[in-house]
Amino acid sequence: MKTPPVDWYKDAVIYELRVRSFCDSNGDGVGDLPGLTGKLDYLKDLGVTALWLLPLCPSPMRDDGYDIEDYESINPQVGTLDDFKAFVAAAHERGLRVITELVLNHTSERHPWFQRARRAPAGHPDRDWYVWSDDPKRYGGARVIFKDFEESNWAWDEEAKAWYWHRFYSHQPDLNFEHPPVREAMKAVLDHWFALGVDGLRLDAVPYLFEREGTSCENLPETHAYLKEIRAHVDARWPGRMLLAEANQWPEDAVRYFGAGDECHMAFHFPLMPRLFMAMRREERRPITEILARTPDIPASCQWALFLRNHDELTLEMVTDEDRDYLWREYAKDPQARLNLGIRRRLAPLLNNDRRRMELMNALLFSLPGTPVLYYGDEIGMGDDLRLGDRSGVRTPMQWSPAPNAGFSSADPGRLVVPLVEDPEYHWRTVNVETQARNESSLLNWTKRMIALRSRHRCFGRGNTVFVDAGTDHALAFVRECPDDRVLCVFNLSRYTRPLSLNLSRWSGLVPVELFGGVRFPVVDDGRWPMTLGPRGFCWFGLEAPR
Ligand code: BGC
Ligand code: MG
Repeated sequence: MKTPPVDWYKDAVIYELRVRSFCDSNGDGVGDLPGLTGKLDYLKDLGVTALWLLPLCPSPMRDDGYDIEDYESINPQVGTLDDFKAFVAAAHERGLRVITELVLNHTSERHPWFQRARRAPAGHPDRDWYVWSDDPKRYGGARVIFKDFEESNWAWDEEAKAWYWHRFYSHQPDLNFEHPPVREAMKAVLDHWFALGVDGLRLDAVPYLFEREGTSCENLPETHAYLKEIRAHVDARWPGRMLLAEANQWPEDAVRYFGAGDECHMAFHFPLMPRLFMAMRREERRPITEILARTPDIPASCQWALFLRNHDELTLEMVTDEDRDYLWREYAKDPQARLNLGIRRRLAPLLNNDRRRMELMNALLFSLPGTPVLYYGDEIGMGDDLRLGDRSGVRTPMQWSPAPNAGFSSADPGRLVVPLVEDPEYHWRTVNVETQARNESSLLNWTKRMIALRSRHRCFGRGNTVFVDAGTDHALAFVRECPDDRVLCVFNLSRYTRPLSLNLSRWSGLVPVELFGGVRFPVVDDGRWPMTLGPRGFCWFGLEAPR
């Protein structure tokens, strides 16, 4: 790679994928690392610049690999350590970065650390790797996250004759970060993956590392102190590598994961995501502008990660009860679609498979301040399968072609890791990469053009954001601006054509040039700049000096 900037993540377009569902090279029905490596040219051509891989470590797979039993090897189902090294090398050859998971908070109950801990006598240092109690009422202020599956954050262990703490499934005991060997062990895991060439690590479930009586046991000062310790370690040993916080929190709590530029480089903006869906349904801008107004500024070296959908349910934790009821009502009429405090659906089905809405939502994703994270399959508008349990319905195999098994695998269809989507509207015979690649107007080719356009403008990743009054709350308008680049973004959130009147007085004298077509619009004079947008339409304009 040619002299990459240390803050490469600011200009990135991240693609999240599940290796097991991406491409199966050996015909066992499970996607694997060689399969993924074979698809790198597709990803490069799509224009994404970084790949985030869901968990790869050996695991009993009761939480899709977030239940780890060995942090330093590769699950044999997806390949070997050599396959992983070959994959990283091939990705880097193409200028693609690699982001993997650092699941700090918990392990599988099958991890040798837990097996050792449950057998060690109380008070023994081996026991202290996890959080034990004689009283399952301790830390009663902590909410239960997987509320459809668990009633308490404590589970009884017959072997230890004590209760152990778990914020997720009861088969995922939480590590005890008070215990110095745990803190050191996690740094060793981080070193292991960075030494393999990984460019970034997503810190899974990071708000829950410590527990304190009388608190919610989230975002505690001790957790931030440990993150500063990790970051100092990264700065000293792994300059240019990135830490991404998964902290499903309100903006004022989420920004704290950046510290003063001395904790994580990136953090997901969880509260923005449901508000994009709310703005779309209410056909007005306020859910978006209000949450961004409530979002504090972040340190200069840091960046938000933005997303529409991911491998989990669309979480509605960061909205009011009233807004959650609204979103459930509007987006999950079918009670089957609800899970925990969220909605287990992919982007296309959420948006009624409406091409205009998909384009509008993606255009927002690609222009709001932050780095966009795409979820595999959403670039072709893949559907989901509500008959599958938990979150499996949004983790179905990538649909490559109309060939058997959608070109994903040569195994018997019954042996696929997750069944393919066969709902007629989203059937893999029609919704697939090969078919869409041939059609210039397909969602796939549209997405490619969007990514290419975004990549030509530094202001999207690095600029500041100035909101612009559009004369109506049905539209959202803002200018992304950095010293050498400036783009005006306008979105009509409503289903009807709307006349807009933008207050562009700050940019008077400049000429808006539509970015897709290069068409020059009338010069901005002192006051309002009129324009019209069709139903759920959007436009991006460069603001240029007149010729
Ligand atoms: C991941 C989930 C996982 C949970 C427990 C998360 O936040 O995104 O998929 O189930 O952590 O590890
Ligand atoms: Mg395989």
